[in-house]
Amino acid sequence: MKLKLVFSLTFLLVISSCTNNPPEEGLTAKNGMVVSAREEASKIGVEILKKGGNAFDAMIATDLALAVSFQSAGNIGGGGFMVYRKATGETGALDYREKAPLTASKDMYLDEQGNVIKGMSLAGAMAIGVPGTIAGIFKVHEKFGSLPIETLFQPAIDLANKGIVVTKKQRSRIKMHQRYFQLVNKEKILFQEEISVGDTLRFTNLANTLSRIMKNGRDEFYKGDTARKLVDFISDNNGIISLKDLELYEAVWRDPVEFQYDNLKIISMSPPSSGGICLEQIMKMIEPYDINDLTHNSLDYIKILVEAERRSFADRSYYLGDPDFVSIPKEKLVEKEYLLERMSGFSFESPTPSHEISYGNVNVELLESDETTHYSIVDQFGNAIAVTTTLNGTYGSQLYCSELGFFLNNEMDDFSSKPGSPNMFGLIGGSANKIEPQKRMLSSMTPTIVEKENRLFMTLGSPGGSRIITSVLQTILNVHEFNMSMNKAVNSPRFHHQWMPDTIKLEPNSFNSKLIEELKSFGYNIGYKNPIGVVDGILVRANGILEGGADKRGEDIAVGF
Ligand code: DON
Repeated sequence: MKLKLVFSLTFLLVISSCTNNPPEEGLTAKNGMVVSAREEASKIGVEILKKGGNAFDAMIATDLALAVSFQSAGNIGGGGFMVYRKATGETGALDYREKAPLTASKDMYLDEQGNVIKGMSLAGAMAIGVPGTIAGIFKVHEKFGSLPIETLFQPAIDLANKGIVVTKKQRSRIKMHQRYFQLVNKEKILFQEEISVGDTLRFTNLANTLSRIMKNGRDEFYKGDTARKLVDFISDNNGIISLKDLELYEAVWRDPVEFQYDNLKIISMSPPSSGGICLEQIMKMIEPYDINDLTHNSLDYIKILVEAERRSFADRSYYLGDPDFVSIPKEKLVEKEYLLERMSGFSFESPTPSHEISYGNVNVELLESDETTHYSIVDQFGNAIAVTTTLNGTYGSQLYCSELGFFLNNEMDDFSSKPGSPNMFGLIGGSANKIEPQKRMLSSMTPTIVEKENRLFMTLGSPGGSRIITSVLQTILNVHEFNMSMNKAVNSPRFHHQWMPDTIKLEPNSFNSKLIEELKSFGYNIGYKNPIGVVDGILVRANGILEGGADKRGEDIAVGF
């Protein structure tokens, strides 16, 4: 079953169209804005701002609203990262990433011959990492919340009871996954019903779970009735997460990665996400080139970005992991001399084959998937947040706890199950990202805030696994180097390279055939992927007006006031 499942999951793509002619300008607003994957969630976030709540209050309400309205990625059974910049200029980051259970072990996904058991880290209860979302939300509230927790939970509870109207994209996503739901779940789940566009889906059990958490606090999820029900459910499905695992879970405040690029200060997620460090490496590698003299998405522009990306992803795979377990040579990795030396082999005359910058003998076949979600918020006080949250794959492990009303993640796949063996995103890792009890798996999520000359300039991020990093990178460059509006920046065509496999992925129908031929004759392997990231961001113009960039690759939407 597992084997069949992994191959099928491999071919599941969320097909979204990539528009080549996005409107010049996105929604503008004077006071505050929320941009997220769902209209319901953006509206709920803005309602909280209008009630006088701050960006952190809106974060909680939006996150929970996504857990109801966008269940393929929005979650309470997964985890995420938040980067913030307060109006005072104070910055910080919250890590509510999932953790490996206490009884997890390095070789838990290997068979007796030492081969990876296909599908085991992808589907079903063994794929689940200890969820962090509820801990994250309460951590945010404890430190920065200004409205009562009831005010922030109630809109999502009401939405779950009232129900959401199924859109075309949601229906096709549910449809595509129904056979996996059937393979993984012992009993028929709500999402296996015949579902049509325009139907209203109500989530009473999720509403009840959220109500109990609202009433009893964070411990309801980690120590209370909900915890016991969850652990019983997981063990009934042959998983290993215990009550002790839930009890021990803590979200952690981290120092974000911060660096200068031209006159911008980039504030992004630190390990256990690779996002911030990779973004810093890539941006510092390309900084010596006059990017704004190049044509957007031209041959030379693609060459520079691709060569920097491949070098950074090679470092990612060798050096990065959970900072609570491994020592990351951060200073060295982002040092100017090191990066100059790393780019010294770059030439406009020929590509650098990925195996030449390899730390070991690896051969990667890229497995494609799936879905995460990002939202950006700026409030009327000038605070900004960027949050990326996920179940990992679309609907995570496909395991749905009907009694509690939510899907559980398959984040364990983000660990390196075996050195040199790719995960769902084709990413490979070594011992820095090996499985250890209580460890957080390495991520690519890159919630990012940008300052320009000490003022808030942008908040943005994306889903897309490994492609998150390169999507965020290109969006920042679109605005900064090519003077695009936020809306145009998020909706412009993207490309991606991640060292292994040694292939440039292009969004289909977005690059002209002459350019593609030139890339090929230069020596690049070309592949296609649709979409590459779904970026949601907010730009603060010089006059203080907010402009939303909601990616048309999804059903993402900006709401402001
Ligand atoms: O943390 C990570 O990097 C992945 N689990 C994110 C998964 C993801 O973005 C899937 N989406 N497209």
